[in-house]
Amino acid sequence: MSYPLIIQGGMGAAVSDWNLAKAVSKEGQLGVVSGTALDMALVRRLQLGDSGGNIRRAMEHFPIQEIIKRIMDEFFIPGGKKASDAFKLSHMFSLNPSKMLQELNIVGNFVEVFLAKEEHDNLVGINFLEKIQLPNLSGIYGAMLAGVDIIIMGAGIPREIPGILDKLVNHEEVSMKINVIGAQTAGDFKLTFNPSAIIDKILPPLKRPEFFPIISSAVLALTLFKKSTGKVNGFIVEGATAGGHNAPPRGAMKLDENGEPIYGEKDKVDLGKIKNLGLPFWLAGGWGSPGKLKEATELGAAGIQVGTAFAGTAESGYAESWKKLILEAINNGTAKVFTDPVASPTGFPFKVLNIKGTNSEKDIYENRTRICDLGFLRHLFLKSNGEIGYRCPSEPENIYVKKGGRLEDAVGRKCLCNGLMANVGYHQIQKGGYEEKPLLTMGDDVLNLRHFLSDTKKSYSVKEVVDYLLGGA
Ligand SMILES: Cc1cc2nc3c(=O)[nH]c(=O)nc-3n(C[C@H](O)[C@H](O)[C@H](O)COP(=O)(O)O)c2cc1C
Repeated sequence: MSYPLIIQGGMGAAVSDWNLAKAVSKEGQLGVVSGTALDMALVRRLQLGDSGGNIRRAMEHFPIQEIIKRIMDEFFIPGGKKASDAFKLSHMFSLNPSKMLQELNIVGNFVEVFLAKEEHDNLVGINFLEKIQLPNLSGIYGAMLAGVDIIIMGAGIPREIPGILDKLVNHEEVSMKINVIGAQTAGDFKLTFNPSAIIDKILPPLKRPEFFPIISSAVLALTLFKKSTGKVNGFIVEGATAGGHNAPPRGAMKLDENGEPIYGEKDKVDLGKIKNLGLPFWLAGGWGSPGKLKEATELGAAGIQVGTAFAGTAESGYAESWKKLILEAINNGTAKVFTDPVASPTGFPFKVLNIKGTNSEKDIYENRTRICDLGFLRHLFLKSNGEIGYRCPSEPENIYVKKGGRLEDAVGRKCLCNGLMANVGYHQIQKGGYEEKPLLTMGDDVLNLRHFLSDTKKSYSVKEVVDYLLGGA
């Protein structure tokens, strides 16, 4: 495979949607769709009426049309739902997901990759988070049905995924260890996914996508290189200035005077050790300016992965209303990024973009409604009767504690699921009319985007970003 110099980082949920990834791939670089919550994105796009008909066009190419009919009957609203109506929810993921949920996830991933691959023959990737374990197997399969070229996975140690890709090529049953709090040994609980239980048709073998884990230490790269169940094909080496979630600092988390995690020498990645593994790698986190690409290749990297600069483009999935506010705040220099050590129920630090009208206002950020109705970030735990329970640190504290969670683990958590859906215009209307608010994220270097903007130039394109990044190479 001949690799591009620039990877547009996966940005969940649906910020790097098919439209952004397609635009990047058309420029000859690697466009990457986010694989996070695509079942949810699918049902919400259908309830919004699928204006433009893109989702329905992609679904026409799905191999089992009975599945598409079921989904359309259940979720499609011609002309879209009323703005004041709530979105209909689908099921939450569990160790035994319903057939309908698996179908939605397979189709959601298929649609996203299918659309990103239209109008060009270049590579398209998809990004998953290891921490969001339960949807990953069916999601990967859906992306493979659409011929995805590269799978990028961060936020964990995805040792089992390469071997799973090898099996899914032949539509074989796959299983994966699932983290359960309170389980005696890792591996006590497994999630199994059997493609033929969903797709009752013999399909030809699929292409085996390449696999690039995202790592933030040479030790992790070495572990994945040596101990994965199949071939790892490359690495993304990501530092703590990147947008979205960040790897926590090594050792106990210490905070600075602003309450942000302190990263130090131990968090620097030994690129020499990674280079010695002989696989291509891309550097991510603060590499989105001219000259940086040249610097990265001189360090032995195959190129750079950039997120923040692409998140602000006209092609990205951020809802137009929020994008306008984001770009205004960047242009006037007031956009600020705060690395919140506790906001995310995953326990990983999460970069929050503070701009007027959204997160900077206390009532919106500090007092976000605690809820868990989408459930992507729920933790599995072992109940005293041996059954599996599910709890999310961002649900109301009393419910979390009643389920055996510790109060201190719930303090400051935000419902990322609803926040991220609101970022891309799929905000839920909760009972009583409360409208879910966005939880915007960008990398530390967000103000660099002023390069693309002025008082009269209020937007910029993927092409401008690619030309800018290649400019210094
Ligand atoms: C809006 C946004 C959302 C992101 N979401 C994800 C994600 O879901 N998964 C992931 O692996 N990385 C995510 N990232 C990180 C990017 O993929 C990329 O590695 C990072 O942005 C590179 O650093 P930069 O922001 O300095 O360009 C996100 C970044 C941004 C800006």
